[in-house]
Amino acid sequence: MCGIVGYTGKALALSPVLEGLRRLEYRGYDSAGIALVVTKGAPLWIEKRAGKLSNLEDSLGDVIPDAHSGIGHTRWATHGGPTDTNAHPHLDNEGKLALIHNGIIENYVELRELLEKRGHIFTSETDTESVVHLLSDARKAHNGDLAAAMREVCAELRGSFTLLAIHADEPGRIVGARRNSPLVVGVGDGENFLASDVSAFIAHTKRALELGQDEVVDITSTSIVVTDLMGNILTPREYEISWDASAAERGGFPHFMLKEIYEQPKSIADTLIGRTQGLNSEITAGINLEGISKVVIIACGTAYHAGLVGKYAIEKWANVPVDVELASEYRYREPAVDSSTLVIPISQSGETMDTLMALRYAKSHGARIFAVCNTNGSTIPRESDAVLYTHAGPEIAVASTKAFATQLIAMYLLGLHLGRVRGAIDEKTSIEIGNELALLPAKVEQILETVEPLRSLTREFKDSTSMLFLGRHVGYPTALEGALKLKELAYMHAEGFAGGELKHGPIALIENGTPVIAIMPPSNSLLYEKMVSNVQEVKARGAVVIAIGDSDLSSAAHNIRIPTSHEYLQPVLAVVPLQVIAYEMAIARGNDVDQPRNLAKSVTVE
Ligand code: AGP
Repeated sequence: MCGIVGYTGKALALSPVLEGLRRLEYRGYDSAGIALVVTKGAPLWIEKRAGKLSNLEDSLGDVIPDAHSGIGHTRWATHGGPTDTNAHPHLDNEGKLALIHNGIIENYVELRELLEKRGHIFTSETDTESVVHLLSDARKAHNGDLAAAMREVCAELRGSFTLLAIHADEPGRIVGARRNSPLVVGVGDGENFLASDVSAFIAHTKRALELGQDEVVDITSTSIVVTDLMGNILTPREYEISWDASAAERGGFPHFMLKEIYEQPKSIADTLIGRTQGLNSEITAGINLEGISKVVIIACGTAYHAGLVGKYAIEKWANVPVDVELASEYRYREPAVDSSTLVIPISQSGETMDTLMALRYAKSHGARIFAVCNTNGSTIPRESDAVLYTHAGPEIAVASTKAFATQLIAMYLLGLHLGRVRGAIDEKTSIEIGNELALLPAKVEQILETVEPLRSLTREFKDSTSMLFLGRHVGYPTALEGALKLKELAYMHAEGFAGGELKHGPIALIENGTPVIAIMPPSNSLLYEKMVSNVQEVKARGAVVIAIGDSDLSSAAHNIRIPTSHEYLQPVLAVVPLQVIAYEMAIARGNDVDQPRNLAKSVTVE
């Protein structure tokens, strides 16, 4: 996610703003920028650069502008690649109003068209720039009242946002607003801060104010005013920050992995924004899907498991054959591929060499390439014909969790969209499934509120030498992902099986006390009873079964309940307990959760 910092006070603003951005670097970003109010009424001082903060600092040299208020931003690119022009802050056409933004503005295209008709000149590809021009017009309409203008603009925006704005006519004043994206106030002595999270200012003050949905905050060095969008004055809750700086970077969580597990509702919601209703041109902009006779998904590891779920969904909804290939194997078997093949590389990092080399092979043989990626501007999307970006935000922990959840969402969206393009699914059905997708963030939130008992359950199995995972249909790739999580975090042997495959050999592995995790289909599924039989088969041979499902299984030793869902969407829910079990097992075994042994976050070698 982007990093946001605002400072107003007795110090020269450049230093606390830069320091705050450094504290937020862990959030991941690909460009950075700062705007300051130096001279009242004159154009703002601004500097912004693609790449790391060091690029921005190099461009600053030893310059320390004489400014006591300003805003700074580290950008995780969503709309528009990581370039100097797309970096925030964005300015109005007079250069006197600056805005920074974290989140996704869903209606930015229609706003841009409206604002260009009003004569505003756009310079970037971002959704954010629509907001700064809208705010400029609103400020004029409110006779220069920036807070009133912000309230009006927020009411017109759809999507998620944290916004900060400054104007050259009002040195020392910063106005902010938030919806479904973090913003916190740091209360200092003769100075005040605004930031994405407390780590940006914790070195200066431990006093913070909590801001709620659709609230606007208006600060100077000695005043803080919070209102709702109607302008009603609110009294925000003040609290003392108990974290130290390093804990603050993890949002108070002990590890990035746990933080990212808990970010899944927001990552899923962000990935769905503007994409669930019917045909959506954004989803496949830039690629011609006519005449596709076959889909080939290429990926590694967790991304490969997302592709396996995608196979079920895309074949079901788009009625097109789908192969899922391990990228490291793909090109070495010289597969038959041509221009009627749609190849979908899935990659969180966008830099996995196995996947990139497979992409290049397919492209050299005429295939159309549609990437699913979480990292804007990375190599794989750059070498693809089109890309569907997941909006998981940067994933710091090596073990993939929220990226996997959003890769699943991307698979579903592609399946629905391809189905609509091919006339294989009607709009009513696609909208019904879209509505089911929209329920997932709340259902994941519900699961996260009930995972506490998994901690003690995990302790029961921490000394096991192996753990097996069973699933059917989309539950089978989920079982594979659960096994991978346990392998890479607990360094324990684990294996995922298709439930129906057990009797063809693997059941010989079952002995007294073998832990088996069964991913149950929704209880209204035709496969539910078959999975019940599989559970009974292993239990009869001494297995200790942990069942994950929407109803309790009498033959299971432990039942982990998840909400019911559309059968194809269930992996998004069932994977959450599996992630938590793997996390807790790693803790119980004293392993490095965020950086497991032998592993890298992005495997850029073949
Ligand atoms: C998953 O927990 C692992 N970190 C690994 O399997 C990862 O999914 C795989 O290396 C693919 O990475 P990518 O998505 O960045 O291409």
